[in-house]
Amino acid sequence: MRLAVVGSGYVGLVAGACFADLGHEVILVDVDEQKLAALQGGQVPIHENFLPELLQRHRGKRLNFSDDLQAAVRASAAVFIAVGTPPTEQGEADLSYVESVARSISGAINGYKVIVEKSTVPVYTSDWVRKIILRNAAPPDSFDVASNPEFLREGTAVTDFLYPDRIVVGADSERCAAVLRQIYAPLTDGSYYRRADAIPRPDRAQVPPPLIVTSAKSAELIKHASNAFLAMKISFINAVASICEAVGANVQQVCQGIGTDSRIGPRFLSPGIGYGGSCFPKDLMAFRAVARESGYEFRLLDEVIRINEDQRQRFLRKVRNALWTLRGKRLGVLGLAFKGGTDDIRESPAVRLVQSLLQEGCQVAAYDPAAGERAREVLTSNVEFVGSAYEAARGADALLILTEWEEFAALDLGRLHRELKYPIVIDGRNLYHPDAMAAQGFTYYSVGRQPATPETQAADAATSPRNLKKS
Ligand code: UDX
Ligand code: UDX
Repeated sequence: MRLAVVGSGYVGLVAGACFADLGHEVILVDVDEQKLAALQGGQVPIHENFLPELLQRHRGKRLNFSDDLQAAVRASAAVFIAVGTPPTEQGEADLSYVESVARSISGAINGYKVIVEKSTVPVYTSDWVRKIILRNAAPPDSFDVASNPEFLREGTAVTDFLYPDRIVVGADSERCAAVLRQIYAPLTDGSYYRRADAIPRPDRAQVPPPLIVTSAKSAELIKHASNAFLAMKISFINAVASICEAVGANVQQVCQGIGTDSRIGPRFLSPGIGYGGSCFPKDLMAFRAVARESGYEFRLLDEVIRINEDQRQRFLRKVRNALWTLRGKRLGVLGLAFKGGTDDIRESPAVRLVQSLLQEGCQVAAYDPAAGERAREVLTSNVEFVGSAYEAARGADALLILTEWEEFAALDLGRLHRELKYPIVIDGRNLYHPDAMAAQGFTYYSVGRQPATPETQAADAATSPRNLKKS
């Protein structure tokens, strides 16, 4: 099918490249001339696994880039809107980009079109998009508006797209649902997965995925409710982690114990320094605003947001407790992206923490495998951007782990120990086992677990039942 995707950011670019991989002819539209030139020139503007392969495979063939929205609409059966929906000062979603795209689309309708919301938008947006297009004189039966929310996690966005748990199609007419069913048919009929050149299947994926058809309003709510639920799970476990620290329990053990209950599940139960990124913080505020407008005070979401803010402050206190005073201290920082596997620093708790530490007078040497360049734009004074974890540790009073990059979980601990001025590691992502770190000579602080030091390790070893029996 011929498809247009409007907005070639984190979501639109991945969606466009994946649609091309399913066999569709895709025009990716953007207003940013520089971005378009870079994409046309073969550059990959974001760090996303498998995206370079897909762009390489389809660029200039089934995937083309353009700034001409109306021509793209005229050429396409379906138009996916994937422009940004940033928060306003009141926390609502700013839908002005969506509105301006809807207005432009209306002038180019030359036959039945399905207009699909891919951006995360509040419930009722599909109604508004429809109204705007009608207001601009498109005939009522010449188009439908659908909601097809994305559930793409940055870093694994391509495999999340191609191996989804489910595909949600919010369509208010069978004609419209049929178009979306056809677009996703290579996934739902399993033919994509039989292809020799299919992007490899991730471990947990079940294929083929189900396609769930709902009303447009329900689909809009599914998106907000999913993100709010996931954020709630993270805040819940972060709150439990705080109790673990206070009573001497181990949050990893608690997670294992509750996550194996199939009603709860183990995923999104990792405690840390709080969730960030371009979605959870913004979507929670927008969902709360939508609820309020509809007459429901969603106070649970207030608490989820409060716990998340508090989690960062707790981590700062941990740094203070470990180092006493902060002014003039040199800290190595591992990770600036809001999570591992991406170069995105939007609402990154790691960046926020570094900013707070700088305010307290620390000097920071930071390393991130992908987000260094972007972080340079927002972090200026007293941050030295270095090229490896060991350089970040060199001469530092302590090492902070702020992003769960895989490479940070596989460091050469002996080398790290030699590089640090004091062997103190404060791990906001629980990448290491406390006993193992203490055995390597580190004083190790993490989230929801007791601090471990070489001394506590020696004492524990002496009194452990196995050693007592031996003696
Ligand atoms: C998306 C969704 O839009 C957002 O709702 C969701 O919650 C997260 O993901 P994202 O892809 O991350 O946003 O945004 P961004 O990377 O900023 O990309 C948006 C693109 O749209 C940009 O390239 C921008 O130039 C383009 N754009 C914006 C247009 O082409 N036209 C416009 O009118 C506005
Ligand atoms: C999210 C949604 O998961 C995805 O479905 C889509 O709607 C876009 O928004 P994304 O923001 O890319 O994806 O990343 P995600 O993996 O959800 O992580 C969000 C934040 O939560 C990160 O800061 C991450 O570090 C944190 N997180 C995640 C935890 O602290 N603990 C966890 O167990 C999982």
